[in-house]
Amino acid sequence: MDKKSSGEKTAEIRRAEILEDARRQHIPVMMDSGMAFLLEFVKEHTEIRDILECGTAVGYSAIQMALVRWDMRVDTLEIDADMVEEARRNIEAQGLSKRITVWHTDAARFETEQIYDLIFIDAAKSQYRRYLEHFMRNSRPGTWFVFDNLNFHGIVDHPELSSNRSTIQMTHKILKFRNHLLSDDRFETVFYPDTGDGIAVSRRIV
Ligand SMILES: C[S@@+](CC[C@H](N)C(=O)[O-])C[C@H]1O[C@@H](n2cnc3c(N)ncnc32)[C@H](O)[C@@H]1O
Repeated sequence: MDKKSSGEKTAEIRRAEILEDARRQHIPVMMDSGMAFLLEFVKEHTEIRDILECGTAVGYSAIQMALVRWDMRVDTLEIDADMVEEARRNIEAQGLSKRITVWHTDAARFETEQIYDLIFIDAAKSQYRRYLEHFMRNSRPGTWFVFDNLNFHGIVDHPELSSNRSTIQMTHKILKFRNHLLSDDRFETVFYPDTGDGIAVSRRIV
């Protein structure tokens, strides 16, 4: 029997609408299989409570992560003012404004003393190395870093799929970052090439 209240059902329907609207507007929210993987990961690792997300878009992934458990807290960073406004509206409508804070900022310039349990990187793809170094100060041994879009729709491994010069340059940077991550001995990294758009999970070990 479905024990959800009508309020919960309304919130669930609204979340499906957020996703549908975003996809209709070609806003790049995380792929379904990537999202499912990330949520399962957060659920399994019960030590995760404080999350930093780089790249809010309309707030969909931040909302989903905050809903994993009642005590999850998410700081999420977004550079685009229209996205920030829409994300804040969506988060408010889900009753999550006390647990999710949307910061209107370039992720690479965000300064806080907070130490996070999970840092989810999903903003400018060419800047992943910069974000990693920048947010070392907000991590501790044991902090998880999750990186999305490491395949960039297959173009990272098959640059011939694109004829756009800036896309190819960006995917070269992603490949360089991917190779870096796998050899960075501050972390234990597992790359999941077939999950979502290519996800890496790195655990800081020193
Ligand atoms: C892939 S979308 C994020 C999707 C979101 N995590 C989700 O799955 O619901 C990437 C977002 O990062 C934002 N972005 C790009 N560069 C950024 C930067 N330097 N700092 C913060 N946000 C940035 C974009 O405006 C875009 O909204």
